[in-house]
Amino acid sequence: MAPTVQRRRAAHAARDSLNLLLIMCLLLKTCELKSANTSKPNILLIMADDLGIGDLGCYGNDTLRTPNIDRLAEEGVRLTQHLAAAPLCTPSRAAFLTGRHAFRSGMDATDRYRALQWNAGSGGLPQNETTFARILQGQGYTTGLIGKWHQGVNCASRNDHCHHPLHHGFDYFYGMPFTLVNDCHPDRPPSLDSGLRARLWLYTQIMALGVLTIVAGKACRLISISWKLVLSVATLVLLFFTSWYASFGFVRRWNCILMRNHEVTEQPMVLERAASLVLKEAVSFIARNKQGPFLLFVSLLHVHIPLVTTERFLGKSRHGLYGDNVEEMDWLVGEILNAVEEHGLKNTTLTYFTSDHGGHLQARDGHVQLGGWNGIYRGGKGMAGWEGGIRVPGIFRWPGVLPAGHVIHEPTSLMDVFPTVVQLAGGQVPQDRVIDGRSLLPLLRGDAERSAHEFLFHYCGQYLHAARWHEKDSGRLWKVHYTTPDFHPEGAGACRGSSMCPCSGAGVTHHDPPLLFDLSGDPSEARPLSPDAGPVYREVVARVGRAVREHRRSVRPVPEQLSFQNVAWKPWLQPCCGPFPFCACSRDADPGET
Ligand SMILES: *[C@@H]1O[C@H](CO)[C@@H](O)[C@H](O)[C@H]1NC(C)=O
Ligand SMILES: *[C@@H]1O[C@H](CO)[C@@H](O)[C@H](O)[C@H]1NC(C)=O
Ligand SMILES: *[C@@H]1O[C@H](CO)[C@@H](O)[C@H](O)[C@H]1NC(C)=O
Ligand SMILES: *[C@@H]1O[C@H](CO)[C@@H](O)[C@H](O)[C@H]1NC(C)=O
Repeated sequence: MAPTVQRRRAAHAARDSLNLLLIMCLLLKTCELKSANTSKPNILLIMADDLGIGDLGCYGNDTLRTPNIDRLAEEGVRLTQHLAAAPLCTPSRAAFLTGRHAFRSGMDATDRYRALQWNAGSGGLPQNETTFARILQGQGYTTGLIGKWHQGVNCASRNDHCHHPLHHGFDYFYGMPFTLVNDCHPDRPPSLDSGLRARLWLYTQIMALGVLTIVAGKACRLISISWKLVLSVATLVLLFFTSWYASFGFVRRWNCILMRNHEVTEQPMVLERAASLVLKEAVSFIARNKQGPFLLFVSLLHVHIPLVTTERFLGKSRHGLYGDNVEEMDWLVGEILNAVEEHGLKNTTLTYFTSDHGGHLQARDGHVQLGGWNGIYRGGKGMAGWEGGIRVPGIFRWPGVLPAGHVIHEPTSLMDVFPTVVQLAGGQVPQDRVIDGRSLLPLLRGDAERSAHEFLFHYCGQYLHAARWHEKDSGRLWKVHYTTPDFHPEGAGACRGSSMCPCSGAGVTHHDPPLLFDLSGDPSEARPLSPDAGPVYREVVARVGRAVREHRRSVRPVPEQLSFQNVAWKPWLQPCCGPFPFCACSRDADPGET
């Protein structure tokens, strides 16, 4: 009985003080009625696409101008060892959203497809995965995603939207359900997987052959079906066949689209306008929800190829088109931060900036570099073991709560954002599954000196390529590589041809004994320790080996979202406004903008 009475008294006291506060508010007209939830900060997460850690001023770049992101770092905490869970968009973002390695949700590949290839595939983030957005929604947050999704759209029919952001805890979505690719730009060479195209091409040929056989069979009276059926099948296949053949212009229509919530608003999208639309949407989301608490995930389309940049930034940087695009990205970030400030939300908003993985070294046009710069780190996008593929910027700002201008060198993961924001919202992480992330609050606030991660595992597709050991006592940092991609020419940091480095098969080398680097003294992973050098090699490799075996015990098989069947283009799943397959509309066209 006593505790109940006490609780009731406390509740009364709380209500009285709240009433007093409200009366004072009304009298002074200075504060808004929302004061009851001030302990829950707004959460603004900004993620760039394909940005290298070496592209930002606050990470040591002295020739690219990123004043807005640098200011964010000055006013907050900057992480120097912030690691993506995967070196590619789809799996890295799946892990970010769920706080779990992508292989736990089936969003990482065993086959050659390492990311979703079409809006009209059936793979995507499964319904039974829980994003931080869903938990925050349950905690009274208004949640929004503006920008890139790349976690799938449909499962079985055109409008089931089973993988759509609105089915994963977001109240509002505006942006690309897919990702920018070169195919989105009429004048750039296509970047979509050529092997997949070839296979689909083969299937359409087989289908056409099938129709010819039916027609021939009917003509020779070998098959008894109606001419009407033959004709409709033939027309359907012919349509599919010619649309594929007339191709690959259709890729742009099918993949490069903008949606607002469940509606396709631009198909194909106008790239030149996308940046200003994303910005307008982000600023207006903040204005609409300034009474808070809100979660806004701005998933920028910058700085992925084809690097479409507006006039204002074109030719202005010292690093060509890529540099122009980075400087434009920084400006967008600045405008979003200004909106937060203008609404007086700076001190009540936790702001975060990161990139989904390392810069894309192989993105080049002849000798012109079109991908990011990973600073002193070896490797890049697509390479999970080498530091350059996964070490990304990580900045947190929350004035008055987190120290300003603080730098933390401890290992942290993008997956840590999940438990961190869930904790801030007063929620609980799911207890029925493995969560790989750890809350960053103790580290960010300065309450803890060491990261909660003693070991981190670095995956390429579903293959564990490397593991990192952060020794708790000494603070020394080791990295063991079991598999590495074969660079060509040796040491240049890129694989044969212009495509992504493979995770398995002929293009990788398995190391037995494994390669060991002392990252504390050799962050560029230039000098592997010799297995014969002494007992240290043996001890470290044995300790990490034990951790890997233990980690492997937590791996369970789940349905693969990136299997060929799930990745393939399926006409009946194609989001489309207007008649299929020609899908075209421009619902947001604003004559005032170009
Ligand atoms: C700055 O970024 C550009 C573009 O990615 C890169 O070429 C350059 O090497 C970087 N400079 C430094 C000092 O890191
Ligand atoms: C504060 O948040 C809770 C959810 O955690 C919500 O139920 C409540 O209505 C909010 N209070 C105000 C005054 O908005
Ligand atoms: C915001 O926080 C900073 C740092 O603690 C403080 O100096 C400033 O006065 C605060 N601003 C407001 C409006 O509370
Ligand atoms: C989601 O469903 C799949 C397939 O039934 C299952 O293998 C997986 O363990 C489930 N995941 C969670 C988090 O419950």
